[in-house]
Amino acid sequence: MELYIRKAYYHYFYLFATKKDTTFRAGWGNLENIFEKQLLRNTVFLNKDIISPHHIPEKLPFREKQIEDITNGLSALINNSKPNNLFIYGKTGTGKTSTVKHVLDQLSAFVAKNNKSAFSCYVNCRSHSSKYKVLLKSIRAFYPEKDFLGYSASFVYEKLLEFANDKQAHLILVLDEIDKVKDIDDLVYSLSRGNDEVQKGSITMIGISNNLMFKEKLDPRTKSSLCEIELVFNPYNANELREILNERSAAAFKPNVVTDPAVSLAAAIAAQESGDARTAVMLMQRAGEIADSESANTLTDIHVEKAKASVEEEIILSMISTLPQQQQLVLYAIAQLASQKDRGLRKVTGEIEKGVLYSGEIFETYLELAKKFDERTITSRWYRQYINELEMYGLILVTASGKGIKGQTRLIKLGFDANKIKVALEKELFKQMS
Ligand SMILES: Nc1ncnc2c1ncn2[C@@H]1O[C@H](COP(=O)(O)OP(=O)(O)O)[C@@H](O)[C@H]1O
Ligand SMILES: [Mg+2]
Repeated sequence: MELYIRKAYYHYFYLFATKKDTTFRAGWGNLENIFEKQLLRNTVFLNKDIISPHHIPEKLPFREKQIEDITNGLSALINNSKPNNLFIYGKTGTGKTSTVKHVLDQLSAFVAKNNKSAFSCYVNCRSHSSKYKVLLKSIRAFYPEKDFLGYSASFVYEKLLEFANDKQAHLILVLDEIDKVKDIDDLVYSLSRGNDEVQKGSITMIGISNNLMFKEKLDPRTKSSLCEIELVFNPYNANELREILNERSAAAFKPNVVTDPAVSLAAAIAAQESGDARTAVMLMQRAGEIADSESANTLTDIHVEKAKASVEEEIILSMISTLPQQQQLVLYAIAQLASQKDRGLRKVTGEIEKGVLYSGEIFETYLELAKKFDERTITSRWYRQYINELEMYGLILVTASGKGIKGQTRLIKLGFDANKIKVALEKELFKQMS
């Protein structure tokens, strides 16, 4: 019986789908396919991917010097000697990841053409945050056909050395956001020792970090084993960002859609915040989406202005979610104090400002909060370190108090809206508790 119904249903469906009768179609014909409608919609984009922050452009203006430095650093392997390790520092959005990937792409093209034995592997330590995970990710890149899951860290490490030795290979491990590796000393020390053990090949680390003070945290023994060259990527200024955006926009948007004031405003906002090309690119992408939603034919500064709040929020959220819990609590203490009405009304340079807090009062509030969330608390030395980092990420502004205010305390102010930061942190902190 059931089969019969099904058959009948298919039969009906067949008729329905093949019927050519126009009167029959008329009732449905007015409803266009929803995807077709989407396709026909007017858009300012030519290729939206190109203005996405994940896209790696072929041209990286203002990074010529860094590209040359990295290339020089690695060029030892062309002559079969061991390159130095390379450590790259700079705030987020200064092009570190893109630049390194660009050089490695060039290297692999060169290696393929010239039959050299060099292999590279890119590891994002945010998702591979332990020595074991980093080694596993690397070995998988070199032996794609084998599965090493379940083997011990020392086995995987030995395999890595074996690969370099057997193939007389030069291995380059890019460790992006290297400060996220929990047992970082162990990893860095093992890899530099491994490099000494490899006879005819080499193991080179390219460590990348947004944290300029990253090396301070390393063990002295690790530091001395490093033999590294350091490179710093400085933030872009508004003019540089404008040129970067013009270059990317030319390929991402239809001709004559993007107006100059839009690019200038996006560049100015990003330059003012942190000289961050990611913010600049995201502003243009979001502004384009807003222009589309309004069926506008041009992308103007008004669209960029509208994009600002949501981009800012997205950036703050992603930054906050990567902070360690204790640092989130420090920031939460600042946000909580700053959101209290009439709190921190202080004169810093002439005018009275709101939300200007003493370093000491923040630490006290942090201690109280930490008790509520977690029993462990950080020492005042770590607290100062966390404050320095929060400043570096642009989440807070720090100034030394002028003469007359409590000795030499530091004055701290949030870089963004206190309530927004509070809400974002609450989400993160409660998520960790549950
Ligand atoms: N010089 C540049 N030219 C063009 N785009 C750039 C440049 N520097 C950075 N970008 C873009 O900015 C975004 C962030 O760059 P990224 O390399 O991820 O920065 P970082 O790793 O320093 O945080 C990416 O979309 C990247 O393509
Ligand atoms: Mg990066």
